[in-house]
Amino acid sequence: RQAAGRPGAPIIFAHRGASGTRPENTMAAFRRAVELGAAGIETDVQLSADGEPVLIHDETLTRTAGAPGWVGDKTYEEIRGLDAGSWYHPEFMGERIPHLDELLQLSKETGIVVNIELKNTLRAYEGIEEKVIAAVRAHGLERQTVISSFNHYSLALCKRLAPEIRTGILYMEGLYRPWDYAKSIGADALHAYDPAVRAEWVREALEAGVDYHPFTVNDETRMRELIGMGTAGIITDYPDRAARLLAERDE
Ligand code: G3P
Ligand code: MG
Repeated sequence: RQAAGRPGAPIIFAHRGASGTRPENTMAAFRRAVELGAAGIETDVQLSADGEPVLIHDETLTRTAGAPGWVGDKTYEEIRGLDAGSWYHPEFMGERIPHLDELLQLSKETGIVVNIELKNTLRAYEGIEEKVIAAVRAHGLERQTVISSFNHYSLALCKRLAPEIRTGILYMEGLYRPWDYAKSIGADALHAYDPAVRAEWVREALEAGVDYHPFTVNDETRMRELIGMGTAGIITDYPDRAARLLAERDE
């Protein structure tokens, strides 16, 4: 039932790309995730002032692009003029804030699954659902994509617009029987904050046909635990650690 990855193996999503060792949400981080053997990449999408889908986590540009102001107030051209690598290390100077199409192209070339998080809780980004779905369809990646969001109205809308694309509910709280809730909006997976995951819940969710993809899991002991519970995937800054655990398990 999984979007992709090896049959029977949980899918390892590199969080913002391989963000433990590369500047987050850059092509360098996405390519590194592929090299490290991740089966999936998680990223955050927002819209520029002129409506282009760009991949950046914060709603403001300060932390990762060293510029004042909001992503949604800048044109695509202005955003592309910024450096998204230097803040992390001078070695990555010149990395850009990617356009969604660049990641989708990489996904098409490599088969890596994309988990596209709509970052539309602070800013509404009117029409972001339609834009993301159109881009996924244009690349023929409907079966290789999960759309996730903390904005569950958006996820319900995505499911109405594109029933063939999987959706994942992001949440931090102790939701009661979140698999029942997921099913009520047609969602396929629970992108739960790691501490809000217990073995019996994973079991019940699986029985209900809903997958768990906890975030953000960087500790190897916890990774092993979650994989042992039967989570369908985990979201981590260190996909190499998770890939190593899976390789050991298969030996
Ligand atoms: O998709 C999992 C995770 O990325 C959600 O939180 O803030 O890292 O986007 P955040
Ligand atoms: Mg995210």
